[in-house]
Amino acid sequence: MIRRIPTTFEDFQACSRRRLPRFLYDYYAGGSGRERTLAANRADWDEVRLRQRVLVDVEAIDTAVTLGGEDYSMPLALAPIGLGGMAARRGELQALAASEQAGVPFTLSTVGICGLEELAAAAGRPFWFQLYMIRDRGVVEAVIDQAWAAGCRTLVFTVDLPMPGPRHRDTRNGMAVPGARARLLKLGQVLARPGWLWNVPLRGGPMSLGTMNLHVPAASDPDSFRKWIDTQFDPRVTWDDVDWLRKKWQGRLLLKGILDREDASRAVDAGVDGIVVSNHGGRQLEGADSTAHKLPGIARAVGERAEVLVDGGIRGGIDVYRALALGANGVLIGRAWVWALAGGGRPGLERMLGNIREELRLAMALTGVKRIADIGPDCLDTE
Ligand SMILES: Cc1cc2nc3c(=O)[nH]c(=O)nc-3n(C[C@H](O)[C@H](O)[C@H](O)COP(=O)(O)O)c2cc1C
Repeated sequence: MIRRIPTTFEDFQACSRRRLPRFLYDYYAGGSGRERTLAANRADWDEVRLRQRVLVDVEAIDTAVTLGGEDYSMPLALAPIGLGGMAARRGELQALAASEQAGVPFTLSTVGICGLEELAAAAGRPFWFQLYMIRDRGVVEAVIDQAWAAGCRTLVFTVDLPMPGPRHRDTRNGMAVPGARARLLKLGQVLARPGWLWNVPLRGGPMSLGTMNLHVPAASDPDSFRKWIDTQFDPRVTWDDVDWLRKKWQGRLLLKGILDREDASRAVDAGVDGIVVSNHGGRQLEGADSTAHKLPGIARAVGERAEVLVDGGIRGGIDVYRALALGANGVLIGRAWVWALAGGGRPGLERMLGNIREELRLAMALTGVKRIADIGPDCLDTE
C-alpha cells in the first residue's frame, strides 16, 4: 500500500507518535499541570478572524523579511528545543540543514543533543543560540564565547524557566524519575520502537548534551536530564543578570519567555534588541494566558522600540499571518519542527516549512496584501 503524504502539523504528529518511544513523544507533546495553557495557546489563534478582500492585484507576493538585520524567506524561526536531537538521527543537524534550505533561522538549545561546534561545522550561515542561565557564571561566559566563535550572532536568553514546571506525563513515563522501575519502563518503551532505537541512539550517538557536556560532565546523560536541570539551572536569575549579559554579548540579544507588558517594557529598557512573547509552549505556568491573547498589548507597549516575536501553538501559515496582524514581527515554531523531523526526517521538515510559506502566501493573496510589512490590525475582522 502506498502511504498518504504527511502534510499538516497533525499528520506529522501522528507519524511521530508511531515512531518515537512513548516517553519521548510525551516529553515533546506535553505541557504542565492539566495542560490548559497548552490547549489555550492553540485554541486562541483559531479565534482570530481575518478580512477576506477581493479585486487586488496579488500576482507578486513577497513573504521575505529582515529580522535583526538578516534577510530571511519568511518571518519564522525554529524555536530552541531541549533534546530536539533525539527526534531523529543527529536531529539538530538535520533541522539546521532544512532551515537553511527554507531560508529561516534555526535556534540551538543550551540542552541540545548536537553541540555548537558540530552545528558550526555544517552551517552555511549563522544560526541562533539559546541560553539558560547556569549557576556557574564562568560556564555561562565560556558557553557564550563558544557560541560567538561558532558564528552565532543572535543570543536568545530564556527567562521563563527559573525551575521546570510540573510535567506529569514525564513523571508517569519515568522520564523525570530516578530508579530501576523508571529505567525498566523506559526500556520497554524503547524496545517497542526498534526503528528509532537503531536509527537514533545506536547509529546516531552519542546521545549527550553536546554543548554542555564540554563544561559540565554531568550533562553527558540525558537520562538524568531533569536532575541535571534541577541542580544546574539557576533559580536566582534577575534583571541584574540581563544587564550582565547585555554587557557581555556583543551581538543581538532576545529575551524569550515574556508574557507581561511590564516585563516587556523593562526588557527593552535593559537594552535587549527583541523579545519572544512565550509561555514556553504551555510547559511552565499552568493558568497563564495564551500568547495569542497577550501579544497585542505587549506589541502596543514595546513594538516601536524592539522586535517582537511570538510562539506557542503556531501550526501553519495562517497562524503566522494572524501573529503579524496582532503586532508581531515574526514567530517561532517548536513542536511543529519536531514532529516534521521525527515523522519525515529532513525532507519532511523541508516540506512542512514549504507548506507554511505557501499557506502564508495564499493568506496574503486572499486578504489582498503583497508585502509582510503591510500585514497589520487592518487585516483583522473585528466586526
Ligand atoms: C519538548 C520541548 C522542549 C523545549 N526546550 C526548550 C529549550 O531548551 N529552551 C527554550 O528556550 N525553550 C524550549 N522549549 C520551548 C520552545 O522553544 C517554544 O517556546 C515552544 O515550543 C513554542 O510552542 P509550540 O511548541 O506550540 O510551537 C521547549 C519546548 C518543547 C515542546
